[in-house]
Amino acid sequence: MFGARCLLRPLRSCSSAPCPKHKPPAKLRVRDALRAQNTSGERVKVQGWIRSVRSQKEVLFLHVNDGSSLESLQVVADPSFDSRELAFGSSVEVQGQLVKSPSKGQNMELKAEKIEVVGNCDVKTFPIKYKERHPLEYLRRYPHLRCRTNVLGSILRVRSEATAAIHSFFKDNGFVHIHTPIITSNDCEGAGELFQVEPSSKMKVSEENFFNVPAFLTVSGQLHLEVMSGAFTQVFTFGPTFRAENSQSRRHLAEFYMVEAEISFVESLKDLMQVMEGLFKTTVMMVLSNCPEDVELCHKFIAPGQKIRTYAEKQLFNWGTDLHTEHEKYLVKHCGNIPVFVVNYPLVLKPFYMRDNEDGPQHTVAAVDLLVPGVGELFGGSLREERYHFLEQQLARLGLTEAYQWYLDLRRFGSVPHGGFGMGFERYLQCILGVDNIKDVIPFPRFTHSCLL
Ligand code: 4AD
Ligand code: MG
Repeated sequence: MFGARCLLRPLRSCSSAPCPKHKPPAKLRVRDALRAQNTSGERVKVQGWIRSVRSQKEVLFLHVNDGSSLESLQVVADPSFDSRELAFGSSVEVQGQLVKSPSKGQNMELKAEKIEVVGNCDVKTFPIKYKERHPLEYLRRYPHLRCRTNVLGSILRVRSEATAAIHSFFKDNGFVHIHTPIITSNDCEGAGELFQVEPSSKMKVSEENFFNVPAFLTVSGQLHLEVMSGAFTQVFTFGPTFRAENSQSRRHLAEFYMVEAEISFVESLKDLMQVMEGLFKTTVMMVLSNCPEDVELCHKFIAPGQKIRTYAEKQLFNWGTDLHTEHEKYLVKHCGNIPVFVVNYPLVLKPFYMRDNEDGPQHTVAAVDLLVPGVGELFGGSLREERYHFLEQQLARLGLTEAYQWYLDLRRFGSVPHGGFGMGFERYLQCILGVDNIKDVIPFPRFTHSCLL
C-alpha cells in the first residue's frame, strides 16, 4: 500500500542540507532580517528589489524590499560597489553581515560584502517612479507592476493576512471547510447574473452543452453548503464568485471572493448575526495585530471611504422597494456611522430559499444584511426555508420545481432549521482599510469592459 507513512520514510533519508564545510550564507527574508535579535556576525543573503539608492563619498546605501514587510532593509556598502545597474527597481542579491544599525530608522542593517544585480530595471521607462506617490487610478493601468509599490504591497499583505485570519476563525469555531464548485448548473440568487461556461473550441458537438445542461460560473456556494449542512452542522467556503452585473461601480466586480457560512439547527437571525459579528471583529483584530504598519499606511495615505452624503429627513423607503446604495448610506449615517444590521425584507424581493416569516400585512422573509460605513452592504444572509411545503410552493411559483428536486430532497430527508450568510471579501478589505475603489483591493480586477492580463 502506498500511504503517507510509506512516503515519509524515503523522504526522511533524503536531505538537501549542504556539507557543513561549505556552508553558504543563510537566506533571510527582509522582515526576519529587520527583526533579528541575535547579531553573532553570521553571514546572510538577502534577495529583493531596490527601493532606493543613495551614493555618498564614503558609503553607498541601498534599500532592498522583498515584499515580506513594508519596511525595506538598509544595505550599507563600500562606494566601490556603485554602478549604473544598481538602480531603483533592479533585482539584487546581497551577501554580507547583519549588524545592529547605529542609525535611528532601523533595528538592523546589512553590511554588504557582495552585491549581485540579478535583473536590470530601466528607470526611464519603468512606469513606477522613485519617491513618487502614484494615484491608485494611475497604478490600475499597470496590474503587472503595481504590486511593487508600497501601497499595493501593504494592501496585498493585509489581504493575505485577512485570508488566513478568516480560515483560522472558522477552524477555531469548529466549522468544516468545503470546496464548493466553481462551475454549477444552478442560479442560487435567481437574479440571472450568470456567466455561461462552454468550451472555446469550435470542435464541440454542435447544439449540445459540454455538460449536457447549461452550466455557469457560481454566483454563490450557498446551495452546495446547504447540502453539506445536512451532514456537518457548521460549514464554510471561501472562494471566487462571479456575477455578470453590468456595473462599473466602486463596489462591484465581475469576479470577487466570498466568505460563506452555513449553520444547522439555527432558529433565529440573532444567532446568525452573532457569528457575522464574531467573524468581522475577530478577524479585524488579528489583521491589526499581525500587520499594523500596513494598515496604518493605508489609513494615512489612501483617501478614506467616500464621504457619506447627508439626506433631508424624509421617508426614504417605500415599503416593498429594494434598498439602493443611497438608502444604505443613509441608514448607516442615521445610526451614527457604525455597522448596521437590517433584518426582515419583503418576501417578493428576495430569493426563493429565504424563510417565510408568515407575517402580515407586510409579508417578510428572515433575511439579514450588514451595512457598513463607506461601503454599504458587506454581508447578506438569511434563515433558509426548511419546511418542505413552504419551499415547494415557492419553487412552484417560480417554475423551478423540477430543477430543484434535489434541494427539496434536503427538506424531505432529515431537514433542520438552518441559516447562513455571505461576506464580500473585497468589500471587507475596503471597509477595514478605507480603500474607496474595490478594484484596488484585488490583485487583478475583472469588471465590465476590462479583463487585463
Ligand atoms: O448578498 P449576496 O448576493 O448573498 C448571497 O449570494 C448569498 N447566497 C450568500 C449566502 O447566504 N451564503 O452576496 C453576499 C455578499 C454581499 O453582501 C457583498 O458584500 C458581496 O457578496 N457581493 C459583491 N462583492 C463584489 N462585487 C459584487 N458584484 C458583489 N455582489 C455581492
Ligand atoms: Mg445581498
